[in-house]
Amino acid sequence: MMLLAIESSCDETAAAVLADGRQLLSDVIHSQITVHAPYGGVVPELASRNHIENISLVVQQALDQAGITLDQLDGIAVTQGPGLVGCLLVGLSFAKALAMGRRLPLIGVDHIAGHLLSVFLGDDKPAYPFIALAVSGGHTSLFQANNPVSFTLLGRTRDDAAGEAFDKVAKLLGLGYPGGPIISTLAREGNLTALAFPRAWLGQDNLDFSFSGLKTAVANHVHQERLAGRALRIADICASFQEAVVEVLVTKAMLALKQTAGRTLVLAGGVAANPRLRAQLRARGQAAGYRVCLTPARFCTDNAAMIALAAFYQMRQTGAAPGLDLDMDAYSHSPLLEVA
Ligand code: KG4
Ligand code: ZN
Repeated sequence: MMLLAIESSCDETAAAVLADGRQLLSDVIHSQITVHAPYGGVVPELASRNHIENISLVVQQALDQAGITLDQLDGIAVTQGPGLVGCLLVGLSFAKALAMGRRLPLIGVDHIAGHLLSVFLGDDKPAYPFIALAVSGGHTSLFQANNPVSFTLLGRTRDDAAGEAFDKVAKLLGLGYPGGPIISTLAREGNLTALAFPRAWLGQDNLDFSFSGLKTAVANHVHQERLAGRALRIADICASFQEAVVEVLVTKAMLALKQTAGRTLVLAGGVAANPRLRAQLRARGQAAGYRVCLTPARFCTDNAAMIALAAFYQMRQTGAAPGLDLDMDAYSHSPLLEVA
């Protein structure tokens, strides 16, 4: 079973080839960071145009690196949503055209399901059911994964996603884009207890998240220091801010395990690349006797390998031979995040 996957939900144009759900033959990612960096965030219109310019090259590279031609494919997987609709439509239209031209099945994949399953691209594979903390630029949620196609939503952000908070704080500190990697590097030199930034617990047993108050607290601190004519202690701000995010994420993940009597925790999504979050989740999880499976850092941020893998599991789990649905539509909000 040879699958080509295409991912274009945000600011990465990506394509990958996966054989038999096991062998990743290629994993090509074209990042648009330089396009959006001057604006401190993703500009949707520029993102869609950039996807159009690069998609055919990225797909060709994925096939070349895998050493295969279109004739050897058994199906085409594509991110259907959630994401920026203009961006998603570029990948979806391209995938439809390829599938139609080659009479191949088209498998629509949910981007969040891709993140939740990306841990299986590494060597540390969890057993079902497991609790998954998916933290990225667009979403922050806790799920119980029952099997590769069944995820129970346990909690989600009520406002900003964790990665979005990193990006916005970096922007207000004038540090550049994307904020996550920059802040986590600067935080290494800072004191994580220097500033008492707030943690939004939202009640004792609550598994939802909120990060907009934290972002405002950082903005207020910056404003006060400037008014007082004091130089900003950037490393301390970064370390204290990061600690506030990490503490909430780790504590809620532990709470989810406790509430569901879960044994295994999985960390996924762009923010899962954060070294402090990885270390704290591993330390606190293992101290409490849980198994902690971290998605390899290279598969945390957006990629098409996770989309290929999710498609493979989707086909295997349902046993259905997917057809070519040319009416398949992109969606901006994930059905996985709908509260039952
Ligand atoms: O999963 P992803 O590539 O895209 C979305 O689906 O949103 O996640 C991107 C997000 C960005 O907000 C970025 O700042 C954040 O992941 N990120 C990090 C780190 N690396 C990427 N956040 C914190 N620490 C990092 N090391
Ligand atoms: Zn993502």
